[in-house]
Amino acid sequence: MGPGPANADPRILAAQSLPLLGHMHPPFLKIMDEVQQGLRYLFQTDSKYTLCASGTGHAGMEMAIANLLEPGETIVVGNNGIWGTRVCDMAGRFGAKVVNLQTEAGKSFSLAELTAAVEQHKPAVLFLCQGESSTGVHQSLAGVGEMCRKNGTLLLVDTVCSLGGVPMYADAWGVDAIYSGSQKCLSAPPGGAPLMLNDRALQKVQNRKTKVRSYYLDLHLVGDYWGWYGSRSYHHTGMVSMWYALREALAIVAEEGLDAMWARHEAVHKQMWDGLRSMGLEPFVEDPNDRLVTVNTIKARAGCYGAGRCVPAGVDWAALCKNAMDKYNVEIAGGLGPTAGKIWRVGLMGYNAKPANVELVLAAFRDGLQQQNYLKA
Ligand SMILES: Cc1ncc(COP(=O)(O)O)c(C=O)c1O
Repeated sequence: MGPGPANADPRILAAQSLPLLGHMHPPFLKIMDEVQQGLRYLFQTDSKYTLCASGTGHAGMEMAIANLLEPGETIVVGNNGIWGTRVCDMAGRFGAKVVNLQTEAGKSFSLAELTAAVEQHKPAVLFLCQGESSTGVHQSLAGVGEMCRKNGTLLLVDTVCSLGGVPMYADAWGVDAIYSGSQKCLSAPPGGAPLMLNDRALQKVQNRKTKVRSYYLDLHLVGDYWGWYGSRSYHHTGMVSMWYALREALAIVAEEGLDAMWARHEAVHKQMWDGLRSMGLEPFVEDPNDRLVTVNTIKARAGCYGAGRCVPAGVDWAALCKNAMDKYNVEIAGGLGPTAGKIWRVGLMGYNAKPANVELVLAAFRDGLQQQNYLKA
């Protein structure tokens, strides 16, 4: 129940144990086609250009940046946690001019702030993280795609810990490029990074004046293996078992339906917060509209947080996590990057997002807080 990987669905683990097919054999190419089809549903796009990058979420991140930016071009990075910081680092390595649009951990960006930055810098790419898992912030994308179009900017969104857990309408919202990860709301093992480009984004890649600096992640080559351009040729050995897993994960998503899946994530988030609040715990993210349902962040450090209540001294967050693991077999995580030592993080994602698991998390919190005399036994 940490911020990922979530437990994998047993159906997905079973799919992953099936015999290997050759990575260029027609039956396997059909499985790749079905993965692409499932991803279209998941991203809510009609774009032909979906695939699963071979690697974890970072592979998707690096693939998007390496292909969408040429040396000397500008990227504005919405940076409100560890992922924005990493994108700044990565884009710099590929020779981009990086504008680090930083805001406090625990906050999202308003459309007005994003518009001002894009109008000022006219970047080739605007990066936003829909679900900031180091802070538990949900970034609204309302109006952002349209604003980017007006300014000739591509909108790139990280959905590693949000895709499948919260709404995403890539086409309707004008999101040009998205990457994600397999191990969070999709309930598969880590190792696959779903990615999507729309026509605008693909055109940008095809009109590059310079070669993509990464051979392994070059979408001219990887896209060809996934059939984006008509023919299909070998680029690297496809991750056969991983893509069986992803195909099964996408089938499970389609069986439940996205609306039902998003509602399930919302419901367990509410259930958990009802319980946590009854113990006197509070969300790290002050604005209710900014709270991410998939990765929940809970104030853990003694002291006062903004306008919120003060957390009493004497609560040892790490001791609570250790007790949860030792006694309940439940992973509760601490903070990361800007939130290290300040919060607990509880993931409610995919296969794990169910009421019984929330009850277990609440029992572990209750017990941990009682042991530390924060709650009466
Ligand atoms: C929002 C977000 N982006 C990117 C990543 C990186 O993904 P990975 O660790 O799978 O490479 C993570 C991982 O936790 C994440 O939560």
